[in-house]
Amino acid sequence: MNDAAVSTVSRIGVVGCGLMGAGIAEVAARAGLDVVVREVDAAACEAGERRIATSLGRAVASGKLDPQSEKDAAARIRFATEFEELADRQVVVEAVVEDEAAKAAVFTALDAVVADEQAVLATNTSSIPVMKLAMATRRPEAVIGIHFFNPVPVLRLVELVPSLLTSEETIARAESVAAGILGKRVIRSQDRAGFIVNALLIPYLLSAVRMLESGFATAADIDSGMVEGCAHPMGPLALADLIGLDTTMAVANSLYEEFKEQLYAPPPLLSRMVDAGLLGRKTGRGFYEYSR
Ligand code: 3HC
Repeated sequence: MNDAAVSTVSRIGVVGCGLMGAGIAEVAARAGLDVVVREVDAAACEAGERRIATSLGRAVASGKLDPQSEKDAAARIRFATEFEELADRQVVVEAVVEDEAAKAAVFTALDAVVADEQAVLATNTSSIPVMKLAMATRRPEAVIGIHFFNPVPVLRLVELVPSLLTSEETIARAESVAAGILGKRVIRSQDRAGFIVNALLIPYLLSAVRMLESGFATAADIDSGMVEGCAHPMGPLALADLIGLDTTMAVANSLYEEFKEQLYAPPPLLSRMVDAGLLGRKTGRGFYEYSR
């Protein structure tokens, strides 16, 4: 692919409009891209639209975005329930639930509909090896990981994760979109479960859960320890609530499956909270309670 092809990306698709998909769609629209978001049904589309509107409103309230740009960004996002609506996209970012079968099904569907053979098919997976998703397509050279961080409009980092089969053209185009268009700081990782950040972060979060579970300290004191003692913006239990306890557990399971190291094994308290639907901020209760 030549430089001109790299710089002409204007149409992006996002599959899934939960916490991460909404953030990715928002930053893409704020960067001037035409965005199509695919969700499973009308209710999920409406929920995604509300999530993006709330976040855009927040950016306006804090003076980071003017009201006209807010309107323009919202107008650049279209919602759809059919994969066919993504046919003309130059880049698609998959951001559905952290489940290998669900993600692989999305990649098979994208492979069938996205017309441009040079289009980048990216996954925002936190931990599933990119190769496993690439092999669900007939064009593994076009598949790459572009991993964003929550909240996406606030955190600058993305991890770029080529698989063994990703082409140099796909890497160049993905990097150009992430850094050049979305303004993200790009770091590169090998295609190993957890990449760089989650391979370091998840054992830390799990240690905090084990500390709580063993009665070693209270949730408030564990979090205060890291906020006041190490200047982290939030403590590990509050951060697990922000990420979502289901996602935290799914990432831990992927890491455990890949490396078979005990430090990645989800502690029983985390599993029970997920069983109970106590998933953190998104359900109103995790290690803390939240008004919704
Ligand atoms: N959407 C948009 N903007 C948001 C936001 C959101 N969801 N949450 C916060 N903001 C903005 C606010 O508007 C505010 O902007 P301003 O400074 O211009 O007013 C700014 O961020 C700070 O927000 P608040 O004042 O409300 O709150 P805090 O100062 O406590 O910051 C935080 C909140 C940004 C979440 C901060 O605590 C933080 O950065 N925490 C760490 C988050 C983190 O580690 N994320 C990575 C998770 S790992 C991950 O995502 C990988 C995945 O694979 C698991």
